[in-house]
Amino acid sequence: MANIIDGNKIAKDIRLKLREETLAFKEKTGLVPGLAVILVGEDPASQVYVGRKGKACEEVGFLSREYRLPADTTESKLLTLIHDLNRDEFIHGILVQLPLPKHIATDKIIAAIDPHKDVDGFHPYNVGGLVTGSPLFIPCTPRGIMELIASTRIELAGKDAVVVGRSNIVGKPMALLLLAQNATVTMCHSKTRDLPAVTSRADVLIAAIGRARMITADMVKDGAVVIDVGVNRLDNGKLAGDVAFDEVVAKASYITPVPGGVGPMTIAMLMKNTLDAAKMKA
Ligand code: GUN
Repeated sequence: MANIIDGNKIAKDIRLKLREETLAFKEKTGLVPGLAVILVGEDPASQVYVGRKGKACEEVGFLSREYRLPADTTESKLLTLIHDLNRDEFIHGILVQLPLPKHIATDKIIAAIDPHKDVDGFHPYNVGGLVTGSPLFIPCTPRGIMELIASTRIELAGKDAVVVGRSNIVGKPMALLLLAQNATVTMCHSKTRDLPAVTSRADVLIAAIGRARMITADMVKDGAVVIDVGVNRLDNGKLAGDVAFDEVVAKASYITPVPGGVGPMTIAMLMKNTLDAAKMKA
């Protein structure tokens, strides 16, 4: 039976530590780290995430500002808001919740954020920095996953790591972070031939596909570390990851649950990036 990696506990410990660091930072500099979160439209999942980010800010002692804009907000209006926030001295981090409505060009919006306030690490400047090994900010979900892997104390150098899913938010930055730790990295996606043959070689398997319970036990190597990034809503209203937890738990050495695995780490890393942003400014 696998050890279950408790993302809730690890994230909580990080938030507590950040709270102390934030207090010390305030005393030393007189600055309060500030995060602006922008949500366009009424996507229910996004509303939940944005609410959690505001709550986490409160918990660690940040200033939090939320901008909830209607779904028909124009691209130029959103750009104006970002330009204003780029100049706002009380705001150190800017996060635009994705996905954006279809009439808005996501690339253009991300590129408008000051890279020094890009706490998501999505700006091309930071993506380039991640490729060459010196980003200002690392995307929150992959950064959180690296912390979860570190909690197992398993050495990544020389290990076979397989990432399933090639999104800009998770899959691509994840592969770069694993590579930076000297893992041998394979990326899989919808066109990959014989996916089970590839995933079965993984010492570390990252599932970031967005399809409920797609990774079954026959696709997992005995003793693998399995990280489940999926958050899928089932017909019965329950949440399920991309991994068939009930069967894979018997085969893996470590596994993350859904919920309570990767999710809370994303927000903890957002707080960490925001404090880093405020420190850069100071
Ligand atoms: N949508 C899903 N995950 C994320 C994230 O990490 N950041 C932003 N901005 N939007 C998201």
